[in-house]
Amino acid sequence: MAKQHQLELIARDKTERPAKKKTAPKAALKVASKAKPKAKPRAARKAAPVAALKALPKPSPKPIVALTATDMAARQREISVSEFFTKNRHLLGFDSPAKALLTTVKEAVDNSLDACEEAGILPDLTIVISEITETRYRVVVQDNGPGIVKAQIPRIFGQLLYGSKFHTLRQARGQQGIGISAAGMYGQLTTGKPIRIASRTGSSKPGHEFEIQIDTKRNQPVVVSDRELAVKAPPSGDDKRAVERHMEHGTRVELEIEATYKKGRHSVDGFIEQTAMANPHAGITYVAPDGERHEYTRVAQELPKAPLEIKPHPHGVELGILLKMLHETKSRNITAFLHHDFSRVSGPVAEEIVKAAGLPLTMSPGKAAREQAEALYKAIQATKLMAPQSNVLSPIGEELLIEGLKKQVTADFYSATSRSPAVYRGNPFLVEAALAYGGGHLPADELATMIRFANRVPLLYQQSACAITKSVVQTTWKTYGIQQSRGAMPTAPMVLMVHIASVWVPFTSESKEAVASYPEIMKEIRLALQDVGRKLGLYIRRGLREADAEKKRSYIEKYIPHIGIALQEILGIDDKRKEKVCATLKDTLERSRKNE
Ligand SMILES: Nc1ncnc2c1ncn2[C@@H]1O[C@H](COP(=O)(O)OP(=O)(O)O)[C@@H](O)[C@H]1O
Ligand SMILES: [Mg+2]
Repeated sequence: MAKQHQLELIARDKTERPAKKKTAPKAALKVASKAKPKAKPRAARKAAPVAALKALPKPSPKPIVALTATDMAARQREISVSEFFTKNRHLLGFDSPAKALLTTVKEAVDNSLDACEEAGILPDLTIVISEITETRYRVVVQDNGPGIVKAQIPRIFGQLLYGSKFHTLRQARGQQGIGISAAGMYGQLTTGKPIRIASRTGSSKPGHEFEIQIDTKRNQPVVVSDRELAVKAPPSGDDKRAVERHMEHGTRVELEIEATYKKGRHSVDGFIEQTAMANPHAGITYVAPDGERHEYTRVAQELPKAPLEIKPHPHGVELGILLKMLHETKSRNITAFLHHDFSRVSGPVAEEIVKAAGLPLTMSPGKAAREQAEALYKAIQATKLMAPQSNVLSPIGEELLIEGLKKQVTADFYSATSRSPAVYRGNPFLVEAALAYGGGHLPADELATMIRFANRVPLLYQQSACAITKSVVQTTWKTYGIQQSRGAMPTAPMVLMVHIASVWVPFTSESKEAVASYPEIMKEIRLALQDVGRKLGLYIRRGLREADAEKKRSYIEKYIPHIGIALQEILGIDDKRKEKVCATLKDTLERSRKNE
């Protein structure tokens, strides 16, 4: 730290000195001249340039003496990922205190649900957010998952880019191994408090409680405290957390962060409600900062179909990744490499690709130079291959989409669709859509509410940058009897829900808020929306027809008696005959209305 400062100061001195000679007024020169690094003790050297800078007139934009390569070399140093993300925390979703609260809860909830599903456990989650001060909150997320073995806890929570999901192609909520450790780092940065984790892997095993911080310079965990939890610790009344620590298996994560809490759909409340919608197999208890308790009971009693892990499809791999894979593979030759490290490449096809690239079949993958990798890449692109395996995804399904919607939205009409898998850049994905319409509870003259999900995780921010929003806006809702202004969301008493599931969801940034607009993905979303839209159109038209018929019937009932009276007056007929004429008229009109 001190060393780095010194380096910066020395470099700054060098650039400033000549400028001072030319333009600085005398007073400034005096101060500046004190700043000569060799002549002064260290403390004075540190303070002087700041004073000099204040006294100096605005520095000229170009330094007159440029830095030498050696000066620059002295400034170079490695930047650890955690240092990088400390400065760029907006990239991870910590750009405002309100969003920080949501992101923290989201990362912990994502991990809990992923862990439970991977372990084949129906998830039960407890989320408690409590206010410490108006700008400081405590977040606790506890699951009944498999727990985490002791040795892994420090690195999972105290090191960025450490996780079990990055190197696999499998539908999961987490991807990069950044999530929960970033939340811990944010807490540490804003409140100075370490992240606290309690985890137990089985009822007969002792649990562990850790307090962990991140050494951001080295991206390494620092264990602040570590203690064993007794196998059967009896819950004691005065320790609030004792009962939770007593869990049979699972993990409890507790953080103190700078945050603000707002109610509403775009807040953490909305996130949890939507999480329950897309995860009908999870039971969630949420205690909000105001003490309000929300219980989301389990709708589905079975776990969703477990998603499968696949190898990358050759057509989805970029040259850089291919090079990396070539250098990391355990295969002894490139033919075996293609066959074993990718999906959909049989032995003969692998040979065909290597021959087409003009390379020897037995070439060692590690020896492939850039040009050879490029030849291989081109040969791969030119070879016809089977589409990637697509039955590896785990959709929510039409029935549960509707069940989930029904639990949260009261409406007259519901429809859902779950499309078959498709492929973008070699990655299988699938799109599901559902909608709820009408019923008097939803506002009729406002834009429809849209909720977006990626691998069952609600996306709350960056709505306009997302492929889902773009597809909704581009769909012609008028075809289905719904109003829509040009380039806008439809105006209707409607909630629209779109879910994209993939082994690798292409997000527009690390904070995973919006889905990138690949044409294949846009097309599938459009088709899903058209499908639910068509069903809605039929419902609306049927409703319109019935309303029209109702109007005519009321006309008949309203006017025919008057016609009877008028006829009686003009023709002088008696009451009995008048009633008969009215009955005949009513009958004729009813029949002609039905035949329309
Ligand atoms: N509640 C939990 N239960 C079990 N394992 C967990 C839990 N939370 C995190 N993990 C493990 O820690 C890893 C790192 O988590 P995280 O930093 O959020 O990255 P990611 O979810 O992207 O992999 C996960 O891959 C998972 O293996
Ligand atoms: Mg995660």
